[in-house]
Parts: sequence; structure tokens; C-alpha cells
Amino acid sequence: MAVTLQQLTQWKQAGRSIISLTAWDYSLAQILDQAGVDIILVGDSLAMVGLGYSSTLPVTLDEMIHHAKAVCRGVKNALVVCDLPFMSYQTSVTQAMVAAGRVLKETGASAIKLEGGQPRMIETVAELTAIGIPVMAHVGLTPQSFQILGYKQQGKTPEQANLILDQAIALAQAGAFAIVLEHIPDDLAAVITDKIAIPTIGIGAGNQCDGQVLVTADLLGLSARQPPFAKSYVNLRQLIINAVSDFTQEVQNHQFP
Ligand code: KIV
Repeated sequence: MAVTLQQLTQWKQAGRSIISLTAWDYSLAQILDQAGVDIILVGDSLAMVGLGYSSTLPVTLDEMIHHAKAVCRGVKNALVVCDLPFMSYQTSVTQAMVAAGRVLKETGASAIKLEGGQPRMIETVAELTAIGIPVMAHVGLTPQSFQILGYKQQGKTPEQANLILDQAIALAQAGAFAIVLEHIPDDLAAVITDKIAIPTIGIGAGNQCDGQVLVTADLLGLSARQPPFAKSYVNLRQLIINAVSDFTQEVQNHQFP
């Protein structure tokens, strides 16, 4: 059964954790969907894990759409959410509408995600939801702002924590259907989760969120570098090296084919 936006809110109310992972191509999306992941995010982390850029800033809307199309072709049940990349939505509400509209029309994704909780972004979320485009919000560490924020934990001082809490409340009121909380203190994430009616999806934000998201390359041990809060459940990088070296040996020895 395909996951719906309404189900996510019901799961929050029922205390059923929401599972989210990122995907950037068809075969990975097919496997994650088969494994029962609830939300597959075509995150702009694609820039780093799939395209080899050094940050998320260079990835373009066309590249996101290209990869989101492949992901959607592999998914039957999960809700697919696609990130709007840096500078495809920040200059005006109209720009955000055009970019989000393209994502929904061209890829088959059900929703978009955008970063930030400043007043302009709250207005953008309200306007997108008003025209029927579901929005997942994202506050705390927002990697598209790494030039200003760095990659460090956000919300450590009471002032910063209050600001992030206010942003999360405003984004929920503006109509976001869920919100990613990235790299903020666990107790702040717990307060936000308690205060807003929409699901919080944590990454580096403790275990009191309504769901968790990881970059799948980190979970699989494929990333060359990963953030301190990520966890690898398998070392696929090493398994691939072993398989390739077995193949090489068998070919050299004329054992294969
Ligand atoms: O781009 C991404 O993968 C993300 C997740 C880390 C939430 O935004």
C-alpha cells in the first residue's frame, strides 16, 4: 500500500516510528522500497554521494529531476520526496513554485523538501501548500547554508534553541506535512516533537523524534566520510572491494568464466 501524507500524521499520533532513507538511482530505490522504507528522499546529498561534488551547493534542479525520475521508477509503496537544490527556490515564492511544480510534474515524486525557517521560507511553505504542493521542511543544520553555519550542531544556546523551536512551529502552521531536524540537541528535538502536530524526522537529533532519516550511503558504509551522528550497518565499500578482487583473481587464473 502506498504511503500517504495522512498516514504519517497518524503514525506520529500512534507512536509508530517513521523510517526514511535517501536514494539517488533506480536500483537502490527499488531495494529500499522492497525493504519497507516509508519515505524515500531524493536528497541533495546526491551532490556529494552520487555526483562527487564537495558540498550540496552545485547540484542543479535538472540533475535532481533526472535522479528523482529514476528513483520514482523504482518505487511502488514509499512516499518519494525530492529536495529543491540550492538557489532553485530562495529568490522568490514564484521561483519556488516553478521549481516545485517541475519536480512534481516531471518526476512522479509526491512532495518536495526545502531548507530553512526564516520568514521568507515560511511564506514559501504556505504558498506552496496553498497550491497543492506538499512540503517537508528542514531546520537545524541546513547544509545549503554551510558557508555560514558550518557543519556543526545547531541550537546549543537557549537563544538558538528558541529560534529553531519558533521556526518549527511556524513551518508546521504554514502547512508543512513533516519536518527534518538535523544535528540539534536531543532535548530540543524532543520539545519540538512534543509541541508540533506534524511528524519530526531526526538526523543527529536524538531518539525522541517521530522518525529517523539517514543518508543511505552512510548506512551502507559506502561514504568516504560521514557525519559523527551517522551509523553504518554494513561495510559495503569493503564488500565491493573484496568481490572485485575475487573476480580479478578468478579472471587472472582463468577460473572465470
Ligand atoms: O540531502 C539529504 O540527504 C538530506 C537528509 C540528510 C535529510 O537532506
